[in-house]
Amino acid sequence: MSGRSTAVAHSNIALIKYWGKVDSRLAIPATSSVSLTLDAYRTETTVEWGNDRDSVVLDGDPLSGVPADRVSRFLDLVRDLSGRSEYASVVSRNTVPTAAGLASSASGFAALAAAATSAAGLSLSPRELSILARKGSGSASRSIFGGLAVWYAGTDDASSYAEPLHDPGLDLAMVVAVVNAGTKEISSRDAMRLTADTSPYYDAWVSSSRVDFAGMLEAVAAGDFTRVGELAESNAMRMHASMLGSTPPVSYWEPDSVRCLRLVRELRAAGTECYATMDAGPNVKVLCRRPDVASVSAAVGSLGVAGVTTSLPGPGVRVTEAPR
Ligand code: ADP
Ligand code: DP6
Ligand code: CO
Repeated sequence: MSGRSTAVAHSNIALIKYWGKVDSRLAIPATSSVSLTLDAYRTETTVEWGNDRDSVVLDGDPLSGVPADRVSRFLDLVRDLSGRSEYASVVSRNTVPTAAGLASSASGFAALAAAATSAAGLSLSPRELSILARKGSGSASRSIFGGLAVWYAGTDDASSYAEPLHDPGLDLAMVVAVVNAGTKEISSRDAMRLTADTSPYYDAWVSSSRVDFAGMLEAVAAGDFTRVGELAESNAMRMHASMLGSTPPVSYWEPDSVRCLRLVRELRAAGTECYATMDAGPNVKVLCRRPDVASVSAAVGSLGVAGVTTSLPGPGVRVTEAPR
């Protein structure tokens, strides 16, 4: 029996970060996180069961090694769920730069989860899809949902899932300063493991991020943009501080990253409220209100960084082609 489906998912940027697992196999994180799904960056993935082996083509190139193996191990989970033993062909396209710190693993595994299960004839609830996507990449649990999402760390497979977080009208937008769209030297997975294993600041990161998470839920519920932004910026800086304490140290920053962070402080001082966040890569994401997108993106553009992308909140995952 063969089945073929296509799904689209968007990447998401965490406002309270996930950085560290308590269970690597199940991808149970040490802390809960909050994110904004972006309309600007997405993955479209087609899965067809009934192949003679698992094959993955990303942006026209066949994958091998670790990235191909990650997909195959994920397909194993779908085989277990569906009771199938066939292999699958996976063809994917990212409009998000791959492995650049713009969350390609989030959109990538959310789209793969939806396409692979649909093609296998499974009909998962959004929560079940979030739990499955998490095991491909933790951040993918949140890309099942549009707009703001919260991923509860939980304590086991069933309790670690994301769900939508009500936005009381924050009117959020994000300006992405693309400092370098190239491939990072160390994956998020390996860098967070190294931080957890070797950084003396890791425990402090975990305890302070738990406090930030509670504060973020309150700030979002209150529609307090200033508090949301302040918490997002300081949480990101603390995550990067924890990485710097690793042996060997991990730093994703480039000179243009620092220039962008400085610009954000200057814009705030001049009266445009905006806040910076950074992930496992050199690119700087600037959280602002929708009416300020044009002025913030013009200011970032004036720095002469490699690129500027503006984004509004994006939608959750959806299946665009399913077996009839
Ligand atoms: P990012 O910041 O882009 O999320 P990560 O280090 O977390 O970087 O993950 C990058 C990895 O995610 C890639 O090397 C690849 O293994 C996987 N990935 C990215 N996009 C896809 C996709 N469309 N389909 C399958 N796997 C993907
Ligand atoms: C810095 O979800 O990419 O973007 O679960 O190992 O695949 P794995 O890691 P990943 O880590 C994301 C780290 C981050 C912060 C975040 O998105 O919360
Ligand atoms: Co990732």
